[in-house]
Amino acid sequence: MNNMLTIAMPKGRIFEEAVELLRKAGYQLPPEFEDSRKLIIDVPEEGIRFILAKPMDVATYVEHGVADVGIAGKDVLLEEERDVYELLDLKISYCYLAVAGLPNTKMNEVAPRVATKYPNIAEAYFREQGEQVEIIKLNGSIELAPIIGLSDRIVDIVSTGRTLKENGLVEYKRIANVTSRLIVNPASYRLKDAMIDQLVNRLNDVLRGGIK
Ligand code: PRP
Repeated sequence: MNNMLTIAMPKGRIFEEAVELLRKAGYQLPPEFEDSRKLIIDVPEEGIRFILAKPMDVATYVEHGVADVGIAGKDVLLEEERDVYELLDLKISYCYLAVAGLPNTKMNEVAPRVATKYPNIAEAYFREQGEQVEIIKLNGSIELAPIIGLSDRIVDIVSTGRTLKENGLVEYKRIANVTSRLIVNPASYRLKDAMIDQLVNRLNDVLRGGIK
């Protein structure tokens, strides 16, 4: 695969925006790209192999070098501190990490609990605040935790705010803004610098409004 660039793409809600960005950057991606259940999609005309991964796993593929580059959320990069270079802020999939919970409630004074998909971010945040909390790691539907009494607070992604609202929760504090980033494996960056620079330049043109 040395003459091809392998790109790890995040499946799910980031996917469409990422595909749109690549198309704007001039990459000819087949129309069935979005509908396929395939996990590996080769586009030989562009010299690219796409790997479709869970968003949380993109940086893992890139760190291990099975993907040269990837599109990963800043949330995942903050949580996992992988050995990858962050090349570009793609300015897609805007959202933010926040502390939320039931309205007008204080955290338990004895052993307050925080449920989250982001244990490292949550731990670091509350440590900075000087609060000792027990972190409860969940894999999704985090908003359930305070409602059913599993935790006092959650640390989670807020995008439109609908999930919080429809579950009667409120935001207490914004922790960090999140957008998707282009990341690269350091060794790939040395070996495939021309291909990667071309990708970065084409994406940069779109980000600067050069290509519509
Ligand atoms: C994310 C996040 C929130 C929700 C926020 O969950 O964890 O639950 O989206 O979006 P909103 O502010 O637009 O409502 P996701 O849908 O990825 O599923 P998950 O619960 O499995 O993590």
